[in-house]
Amino acid sequence: QAPLTLLGIESSCDDTAAAVVRHVPGQAPDILSSVVEGQTALHAAFGGVVPEIAARAHAERVDHCVEQALAQAGLGLADLDGIAVTAGPGLIGGVLSGVMCAKGLAMATGLPLIGVNHLAGHALTPRLTDGVAYPYLMLLVSGGHCQFLRVDGPQEFTRLGGSIDDAPGEAFDKVAKVLALPQPGGPSVQAEAMQGDAKRIRLPRPLLDRPGYDLSFSGLKTAVLRARDDLMAGKGGLHRQDRADLCAAFQTAVADVICEKSRRALTDHPVATFAVAGGVAANTEIRARLTALCDGLGVRFLAPPLALCTDNAAMIAWAGIEQFRARGADDMALSARPRWPL
Ligand code: KG4
Ligand code: ZN
Repeated sequence: QAPLTLLGIESSCDDTAAAVVRHVPGQAPDILSSVVEGQTALHAAFGGVVPEIAARAHAERVDHCVEQALAQAGLGLADLDGIAVTAGPGLIGGVLSGVMCAKGLAMATGLPLIGVNHLAGHALTPRLTDGVAYPYLMLLVSGGHCQFLRVDGPQEFTRLGGSIDDAPGEAFDKVAKVLALPQPGGPSVQAEAMQGDAKRIRLPRPLLDRPGYDLSFSGLKTAVLRARDDLMAGKGGLHRQDRADLCAAFQTAVADVICEKSRRALTDHPVATFAVAGGVAANTEIRARLTALCDGLGVRFLAPPLALCTDNAAMIAWAGIEQFRARGADDMALSARPRWPL
């Protein structure tokens, strides 16, 4: 196996990103650069990601991100061995910007082009950061994803289960909205929850009574809305302590559901490592609970650094390296796919 240096490009949601990763077999991979340009400010006024705005921003910024990534790595295109790009799933306008940029570079240089599934990028991150051996279990929990994956190889993923409605990050964001807390909701709900009593308000634990690893968060969000209205009735507003208690109850309910489904997945699929990725993996209660769960089961719990848990292009470059070795390159017919199950 030869050493490989790949450029990665990611533009499937609301971050435009480019990175260069080098891997010498037998050594730990080296992230030579990782540039992420968020679009939070562009979408802030709309209470969610607006696809047209995202697509335009990706088209405008992707070349710049690539230049930055190469400059920070101190490399030129001639030093690369290939170009990996997120080819889906995601907002099609953004994915297209990345794929067209990658195709242009591949055509101009003759370098191999590798189309990567965004979820494969997240799922292979534990190998980039910690050299975790196959097989392992992965929990992806972000604003857009929620699934348990069993990872057996660079292209061998088994989806064990996932959310049947909202992703947990989406639920955190919606709860923040109905409680008039700032976006993104995760960090602000977490901060409130620290001042609250999780036991005072009872919220449901959706799908816990059903077998399997599927999760559901939209009923929880509705329950928070109802509890808020009950707390406000006749008071003209939501008391600070009531809001904190509601945030604590919600966060603990999400943690309970995620922990119980994780416990089942780990019991049915004994593996040495359980890894998380996605913005929700930043939640301190969820992290602490999953750490305790894994300690009890004798499984290694791994939460990669947050910058590599959330959307980035280093994970795409790395997945590109692993998949290029496994299956070679794609051709110019590579298409951008809004839907692309693993
Ligand atoms: O992975 P990410 O940056 O982007 C994608 O969704 O792809 O995840 C963002 C999500 C948001 O919904 C945000 O509210 C949530 O992760 N989040 C959190 C925390 N920090 C970010 N949720 C719970 N607790 C947190 N501390
Ligand atoms: Zn993602």
